[in-house]
Amino acid sequence: ANKTLLMLPGDGIGPEVMREVRRIIEWMDRRRSVTFRIEEGLVGGAAIDAEGTPCSDATVARAKAADAVLFGSVGGPKWDSQPFENRPELGVLRLRKELGLFANLRPALVLNPLVDASSLKPDVVRGVDIMVVRESTGGIYFGEPRGIETMPDGKRRGVDTEVYTEDEIARVARVGFDLARKRRGKMTSVEKANVMQSGRLWRAVVGEIGRAEYPDVQLEHMYADNCAMQLCSRPKQFDVILGSNLFGDLLSDLAAALTGSLGMLPSATLGAVDATSGKRHALYEPVHGSAPDIAGKGIANPCAQILSFAMLLRWSFGMEEDAALLETAVEKVLGGGLRTADIMQTGMARVGTGVMGEAVMRELEKL
Ligand code: NAI
Ligand code: MG
Repeated sequence: ANKTLLMLPGDGIGPEVMREVRRIIEWMDRRRSVTFRIEEGLVGGAAIDAEGTPCSDATVARAKAADAVLFGSVGGPKWDSQPFENRPELGVLRLRKELGLFANLRPALVLNPLVDASSLKPDVVRGVDIMVVRESTGGIYFGEPRGIETMPDGKRRGVDTEVYTEDEIARVARVGFDLARKRRGKMTSVEKANVMQSGRLWRAVVGEIGRAEYPDVQLEHMYADNCAMQLCSRPKQFDVILGSNLFGDLLSDLAAALTGSLGMLPSATLGAVDATSGKRHALYEPVHGSAPDIAGKGIANPCAQILSFAMLLRWSFGMEEDAALLETAVEKVLGGGLRTADIMQTGMARVGTGVMGEAVMRELEKL
């Protein structure tokens, strides 16, 4: 089947780092591994300027028809005065919702050449390779009732509600278990079953699925607060970490801090498998935003975008070999001493976006 890739570069450094992915695709083209169709579209501020909305119906339709979306980043000072309902950031929110992307995958991998860039001691982080799976369409960020209300005594109260159905827990748990199976065979499921009812159900459902469908995966339950502490003190014990929208948000940021820079971190968000087409919607994007402070200067680190593309090749296109080559090439470039400003270390050579991307491509040619 011929796969389709939709590229949505967006704003700020988005188009700058996406250009380096284009370069990688040229390399793939030379080795005849571009077996997919490439489309490009507008999102965020760029789409507001051209189409009046941060994500048009046409773009949503193209995203749904595509096998995978490679997203850049959106937002910037130019659109800060837009009404709230028409802000660039709503572009990605709409895509997540329309594509039903319920599982957010955030790898935290400490590459050997960057061990010193971590906020922790070298011997604590060397070899860390964690995948945080965060539920991303349910939980306390969406549960009803929610809002700020005025009580009879005139005082206000803020209300959020955490609701998880057993199906919502089960489908994201399966994503985690499947990943663990392909990795080191261990999953740590986090909640606060000691104080939260949704946490009790979370623990029960994950345990049931583990016993029935994944007896080969080592499942461990851990309270989320303990997990935060363990991530800082003994991060190497973790393989896959599974959490709710709230806990996954916090723990994935924490795990990211182990690795060094925002400019290095990719992510994937997966949806359900469509019953008729057999296709799983998926969107891949760097963790960082549009970085208006450095946009247009040619100094952004393209690695997060390139590594997001590697995740896409692996998870949506089944191109494991190309994905692994790409990851190795990035590691070799860093090992060779090249650094963009955000990951600069003493004794290394500071380069811009284009030189970094070109170096990755040259490494690929050698592999
Ligand atoms: P940001 O991630 O854009 O930038 C934070 C800091 O990290 C900045 O100092 C930036 O220069 C640096 N940085 C980020 N990516 C980098 C890279 N590839 N290379 C080198 N340095 C890098 O987050 P911030 O500043 O909070 O948000 C800026 C804009 O991006 C806002 O409009 C925000 O709403 C939007 N944003 C969009 C996201 C998305 O498209 N999914 C995610 C996060 C923020
Ligand atoms: Mg966050």
